[in-house]
Amino acid sequence: MRNFAINLAIEAGKILQDYFGRKITVSHKGQIDLVTEVDLLSEKYIKEQIASHYPKHQILAEEGGLSLTSSDYRWIVDPLDGTTNYAHGYPIFCVSIALEQAGKVVLGVVYDPTRNELFVAEEGLGALLNNRPIHVSEKALLKDALLVTGFPYDIKTTTKNNLNYFSRFALTARAVRRSGSAALDLCYTAAGRFDGFWEMHLGAWDAAAGVLIVKEAGGSVSRFDGSEFELYPPKTKTMEILATNKLIHQDMIRVLADDFVLPT
Ligand code: IPD
Ligand code: CA
Ligand code: CA
Repeated sequence: MRNFAINLAIEAGKILQDYFGRKITVSHKGQIDLVTEVDLLSEKYIKEQIASHYPKHQILAEEGGLSLTSSDYRWIVDPLDGTTNYAHGYPIFCVSIALEQAGKVVLGVVYDPTRNELFVAEEGLGALLNNRPIHVSEKALLKDALLVTGFPYDIKTTTKNNLNYFSRFALTARAVRRSGSAALDLCYTAAGRFDGFWEMHLGAWDAAAGVLIVKEAGGSVSRFDGSEFELYPPKTKTMEILATNKLIHQDMIRVLADDFVLPT
């Protein structure tokens, strides 16, 4: 299944690469939430391959929802993470595929076709970038850290829009980036390119593979208050993800706390 998932991500990545920069049809799922014909093509390809190799497995894919079966296995698929970037011709996007077994993510594969970078992690076996082991960074101080985040698609209508946290970290860390691909943000944290990542309101497809990749690279993943990360939070809670190199985790939790006040 590991090789199958790797081939699947690479082949789907080729679809993204083939259409990149061409005139494509873009529709709106929400005010700023786009879906392109390439999201749909990539997802169709991935689902067909899974259905033909593992017809009993469940599939949770961003555009098509969940196909429930009695199987223990569930594929969690983001066929194009970074759609807004993609639709604008900004080359930061990827395919993210995770495999869950009995409710636990055991395999994560993220492929960036632009840079030909393949991130893979299997539970207990470490994380790899193009077959070489990767590890989170060794930055121990928040003030020296390069962080990354993202904003929810309902940013214009919700008060939980992450702008408060963004300004806190902009003033406490070295710098903050917004790449537009949560799956790559997690992989880059795993590879030590970023020291920490936080975001809210993500879907399971954005995070499933990347979370395993960060953990297997030696990082920590939790909710904003340090409690256990939930891939499928109950309706009463929103998804919150804080993924770091472990060393700055507590400092980031402190900045994300309700009672945080900026030092003067
Ligand atoms: C989005 C990206 C983005 C994040 C959004 C996601 P999509 O996924 O990962 O970085 O900020 O919350 O929804 O829509 O491009 O697959
Ligand atoms: Ca996504
Ligand atoms: Ca997507």
